[in-house]
Amino acid sequence: MGVYYEPVPVRVQKKKKEVARGLVVLMLLLSVLLSGLAVKLLAHHCASAPERSATPNARCGLFDGEWVPDSSGPAYTNASCRFIEAPQNCMTNGKPDDGYLYWKWKPYGCDVLPRFEGKTFLEGMSGKHWALVGDSILRNHVQSLLCLLSKVEDPTVVYHDETWRSRRWHFPLHNFTLSLVWAPFLAKAEISEDENGISSSENRLHLDVLDANWISQWNGFDYVIISAGQWFLKPAVYLENGAAIGCHNCQDRSQKEIAVEHSFRRCLAKVFEFITTSSHKPVVFYRTWSPSHFEKGEWFSGGTCDRKVPFKPRQTGDRQFDRVMWRIERAEFAKAAADDGPGNAGRLKLLDTFELSLQRPDAHAGPYKTYHPFQTGSTGGVHNDCLHWCLPGGPVEAWNDILMQMLLEDGGLRPRGGACI
Ligand SMILES: *[C@@H]1O[C@H](CO)[C@@H](O)[C@H](O)[C@H]1NC(C)=O
Ligand SMILES: *[C@@H]1O[C@H](CO)[C@@H](O)[C@H](O)[C@H]1NC(C)=O
Repeated sequence: MGVYYEPVPVRVQKKKKEVARGLVVLMLLLSVLLSGLAVKLLAHHCASAPERSATPNARCGLFDGEWVPDSSGPAYTNASCRFIEAPQNCMTNGKPDDGYLYWKWKPYGCDVLPRFEGKTFLEGMSGKHWALVGDSILRNHVQSLLCLLSKVEDPTVVYHDETWRSRRWHFPLHNFTLSLVWAPFLAKAEISEDENGISSSENRLHLDVLDANWISQWNGFDYVIISAGQWFLKPAVYLENGAAIGCHNCQDRSQKEIAVEHSFRRCLAKVFEFITTSSHKPVVFYRTWSPSHFEKGEWFSGGTCDRKVPFKPRQTGDRQFDRVMWRIERAEFAKAAADDGPGNAGRLKLLDTFELSLQRPDAHAGPYKTYHPFQTGSTGGVHNDCLHWCLPGGPVEAWNDILMQMLLEDGGLRPRGGACI
């Protein structure tokens, strides 16, 4: 394993210097005594105060709402964050209309969501290991999280696999670890695709075996965000007990066609069976389907996404298929939450970002997945990415804002300067 960091007690050294200044010692001692007393009093007060009262959105449904104009702009930019990967860096790539940067998610029945607070997060998660498990949309999510956290502390990469699809970062001052784990199907898959997504033959997906990439590391995780997505749409041979049971969209028409819905449901059931029966019980967020917004075609047939403003709720178009996948996720999640046992109540959380993401057709990279795509004048070959999200500015920051609220409500984070100080 490539974990070669040695946590340095930087803060301790800094304190020593300060303390070694004559008279200040006396004053410090005095204030320590006083604050010790205050902490005792406050601890008493906190213990009796209900946790939830500290959060502004305790009574809001975080996932139902609409996007409202917001002049304050994004939480980070292409200039302030070094973690935005080129295909999502819409600012640098020259997306001409920057209107997509000025919206904020407003759940019904409560205020605009407060922003993700990196300092609260890192201080509360000291010593913890978070893992984000999934596909390239999960990678979108990790980039956004890194941009928000690196405003507080710049992390170092402590591990990566050959392709850099799986990576791990450490934040030494906060002893916080963040892993990105590549597992696009969550289940075991033999993927025959090169880096450009060109496949020499069909992928082979084992519906009843999970991807070792994440389950082998499971016992080391304290918090996990997991999701699945568009990889299920690709042509694939489906296997159970090691034998092919059929195929989705295969060239070889002699194989029995099996619907994507079937393989998706089957894999999710397997994932949740593992999560609920494993003796290791991290907090798990299941993030729901991230919809694409191709119009006038699909991704393979010249579809585009050039809307300039979010959809209004209930005007999001039919996107029938996305909704079917979302329904499957919610059904499988509900079963798992019911199966998880009374002692684990609240440990499985649905990060149900589908609806708020569905309302953002304006926030995909589109042609600006590449650097100034129209500059050369060769518009013929421009390909649109209406699946991944621009960073910053799309719904992904809202995913993190919501994550923050869920953690404050009952996920082990205390608000800074909230009810207790
Ligand atoms: C950030 O994007 C702006 C355009 O929005 C561009 O002018 C600037 O050069 C970019 N900065 C970096 C560091 O890429
Ligand atoms: C960092 O966190 C890990 C995991 O909780 C713990 O084992 C280790 O002792 C911590 N290191 C420091 C320097 O606090």
